[in-house]
Amino acid sequence: MSPVPTVKLRPACDDDRDLILTWRNHRVVRQASFTTHEIAPDEHAAWWARVTADDSRHVLIACADDTPVGVVIFDESGDGADWSFYLDVDGLEARRALLPTWIATEIATLDHAFGPAGYAELRGEALAKNSAVVKLHERFGFTVTGEYQREVDGEPETVLRYALTAAAYREEEPA
Ligand SMILES: CC(C)(COP(=O)(O)OP(=O)(O)OC[C@H]1O[C@@H](n2cnc3c(N)ncnc32)[C@H](O)[C@@H]1OP(=O)(O)O)[C@@H](O)C(=O)NCCC(=O)NCCS
Repeated sequence: MSPVPTVKLRPACDDDRDLILTWRNHRVVRQASFTTHEIAPDEHAAWWARVTADDSRHVLIACADDTPVGVVIFDESGDGADWSFYLDVDGLEARRALLPTWIATEIATLDHAFGPAGYAELRGEALAKNSAVVKLHERFGFTVTGEYQREVDGEPETVLRYALTAAAYREEEPA
């Protein structure tokens, strides 16, 4: 396995739009999502126009040594934000760097959320069957705060909600 890289986040721009669609349409990402169909370019363009016009949503590109490796989306509400992300699964698997880059992206996300963004709480959701995601989040201090059922492509699925407060994150940080 490659060493854990340093990942930095930067705001996404229009030039990133097509790359994001390729990543989102990867089989692994679709299977982790709440809608699993392949997203068409016009559907993606409409979503892109919506999110980039919405001041409460921030789409950031995770970069390892200037190479784009994933997307991190913050959807602000109250004094915190909901967070979702996906990675360039094919590119990272080819470089045998998926897990270390995932860890590095999680670190960069928390540093940004509780640093420059100033959120008091970061929340997220994942399918319960996607236990690797939930386990990794727990290692960073997230706790499961609840669950609910929703239909994914007509099938009932359990969705776990998890959260981490800025205060809890600072307590866990090494001095
Ligand atoms: C994977 C993950 C990002 C998928 O989220 P999602 O299913 O797209 O759900 P979101 O809440 O972000 O999307 C909300 C809506 O936008 C749509 N949407 C999301 N991205 C879109 C895109 N690029 N183009 C068009 N529509 C899009 C969704 O279909 C959904 O539509 P609906 O509300 O009409 O049903 C999210 O579940 C997550 O962060 N999970 C934990 C981390 C993880 O497992 N990541 C993948 C591992 S690499």
